Amino acid sequence: MSQWQDVGDTAAFQEDEPRAVTVAGEPVAVVRQGDEFFAVHDICTHEVARLSEGFVEDGCIECPLHQGLFDLRTGQARKAPCVTPVRVYKTRVQGGRLEVQAP
Ligand code: FES
Repeated sequence: MSQWQDVGDTAAFQEDEPRAVTVAGEPVAVVRQGDEFFAVHDICTHEVARLSEGFVEDGCIECPLHQGLFDLRTGQARKAPCVTPVRVYKTRVQGGRLEVQAP
């Protein structure tokens, strides 16, 4: 059974500025684009770096360590050296609060 976890007021998430949250004990990076919210596992699949410290461009989040890219919607690796997809999480807004689906 899926569980939704509150990660904060939607107003706390700024456009294209990744923010680190914790969902079920896991580090997760959340990105806002307009009224859409994307959540991906916060650790790069290449080595150990926090995607929440990277930039957002063209629907992707860029790893700050070697500039690999992951698609925010699918988690697919879009640029080397990343090849393994990063986990993505579902999000929803409930009464102005953002929730992320726990695995
Ligand atoms: Fe992310 Fe290398 S650690 S691209």
